[in-house]
Amino acid sequence: MHRFDNQTVLVTGGTGGQGSSHVRAFHAEGANVVIGGIDAERGDALVDELGDRARFAHLDVTDESSWSAAVTTAERAFGGLSVLVNNAGVQNPPALIEHTDQATWSRILDVNLTGAFLGIKAAVPALRRSTEGAVVNIASTMGLGGTAHYAPYVASKWALRGLTQTAALELGRDRIRVNTIHPGVIATPFIHEPAAGAGAAIADFYSPEPFAVPRLGEPADVTRLLLFLASPEASFITGSEYVIDGGLQLGPALQAEAA
Ligand SMILES: NC(=O)c1ccc[n+]([C@@H]2O[C@H](COP(=O)([O-])OP(=O)(O)OC[C@H]3O[C@@H](n4cnc5c(N)ncnc54)[C@H](O)[C@@H]3O)[C@@H](O)[C@H]2O)c1
Repeated sequence: MHRFDNQTVLVTGGTGGQGSSHVRAFHAEGANVVIGGIDAERGDALVDELGDRARFAHLDVTDESSWSAAVTTAERAFGGLSVLVNNAGVQNPPALIEHTDQATWSRILDVNLTGAFLGIKAAVPALRRSTEGAVVNIASTMGLGGTAHYAPYVASKWALRGLTQTAALELGRDRIRVNTIHPGVIATPFIHEPAAGAGAAIADFYSPEPFAVPRLGEPADVTRLLLFLASPEASFITGSEYVIDGGLQLGPALQAEAA
């Protein structure tokens, strides 16, 4: 008996980074998993690794038709959908607002915000048919304040919070809960690979040393929180936001005094 036996989970951006950690953990907990993503090679490799109870769905979250195909994959292969994880996300190359072009602004909002909107829209009918449904949107601690050079990313993650709260209100009576996770700095390609057109990785901005837990987060840190929020253990939690950042939001920690 596992926490997600007989449930089907769709994870966007599920082929790598935090997404593949989430996919593996849901699968290990008994779920059928639909790995939504744009990298078919990595998606197929993950399906081969997991074997039974896994499918890859080619899913560009900005494309409404690929959303309906992914939900159909879940329903045809596994008979339904109970959990949607809007994990896919992109960051903008660091630039001041005055140097950010509209195409960059639109691309980041399309993936990070419109992608989640389209996902909720496409998944709701299937989630409603499930006994209990859950949506978890992966935002960021950068959606809790301002960060110079990251206006499109920051704005997209702030807006995701409003989408989460509104969806929670609209869907609560259908037994569908909607929550947000705000990761801090998590060790994935996201922080190690410089954004397109920029010379610096985002990790260069965040040494973990000054903070209460002086290490980078691991995908598994986020995965454990996600599985809790998606599970019936969290049945009274909706419209909520969970920060998982090792204390980054608190500011620098008290340093031990030199002896
Ligand atoms: N790594 C961090 O420090 C950090 C911190 C806060 C929030 N986040 C958020 O966590 C989420 C996962 O990021 P990650 O750290 O695993 O980074 P990552 O770059 O490894 O993963 C992002 C995933 O999104 C996918 N993706 C991009 N555009 C897509 C599209 N149009 N359609 C479908 N998939 C698309 C990519 O293929 C990739 O699999 C993102 O939403 C990111 O904003 C990351």
